[in-house]
Amino acid sequence: MSAYCYVNGEILPKDKGTVGITDLALQRGYGVFDFGRSYNGMLFHFADNIARLRQSAAELHLDVPLGDQEITAIAQQLIDLSDLTTPAIRLLLTGGCSSLDTRQPNLIMIAEELPTYPEVYFSQGAALMSIEYQRELPQVKSINYLNSIRLEQKKRQHNALDLLYYNRQSITESPRSNFFAFCGDTLITPAEDILYGITRKIVLQLATAEFHIEERDMPLEELASIDEAFLTSTSKNVLPVSTIDNKPIGTGSVGKNTQKLMAVFQEYLENYS
Ligand SMILES: Cc1ncc(COP(=O)(O)O)c(C=O)c1O
Repeated sequence: MSAYCYVNGEILPKDKGTVGITDLALQRGYGVFDFGRSYNGMLFHFADNIARLRQSAAELHLDVPLGDQEITAIAQQLIDLSDLTTPAIRLLLTGGCSSLDTRQPNLIMIAEELPTYPEVYFSQGAALMSIEYQRELPQVKSINYLNSIRLEQKKRQHNALDLLYYNRQSITESPRSNFFAFCGDTLITPAEDILYGITRKIVLQLATAEFHIEERDMPLEELASIDEAFLTSTSKNVLPVSTIDNKPIGTGSVGKNTQKLMAVFQEYLENYS
């Protein structure tokens, strides 16, 4: 498999892309990114990835050096050049090799294989482990994933696919996914202190025709009374959750409403053009 990247105007084989050791992303964790996917060789909702990258960059006072059309054209070029099964594009904007006063961000784009998850998660549901934690600047997709990486081993010891973050008010999200629950035919998802996922947005649009939707706080205690739960993300699509902290959600199997949304999302992906 070959894959290509773009670094500040140059397209290179992925293993040849570099930035300097004085980059503020490396020295101070100052950088943002976004991650979009393709389907059948075509970029999927990529305008949303660029818009979110711009919003993250603006929050951190970083300039995105290219226009939307240029970014899209480079991303498509990387997909076409690379020999990947399901190409995804990582957009990375780092603080750059400069002082804090004279920022010259590095724009990097990398073609990568879209991660896949074992089929058993989709047929039987995944386990989550709850943990109290609030991401700094939640609406910014920053490169800081320290907390989830730090807890990787603990997560594995608990056989959990991922963490479920909550703060004083509400469940928020998973480190790389948004969280949804069904209570009967009501679909509930947290709306504050989260990253607004692109898959979340699509799922909410698709669900309006079928379900009553509540975007609101969800105290952790509410987990005891929900019937179904699932995560959404670019690589997971709609991924059912069967247990949280070893307690079953509803019957502990994949509920019918989640199955419905999994199917509707898959259909949307396949028909996207
Ligand atoms: C913190 C966080 N929440 C939610 C998501 C899901 O977003 P998307 O559906 O755009 O992949 C991500 C994606 O990586 C994330 O990092």
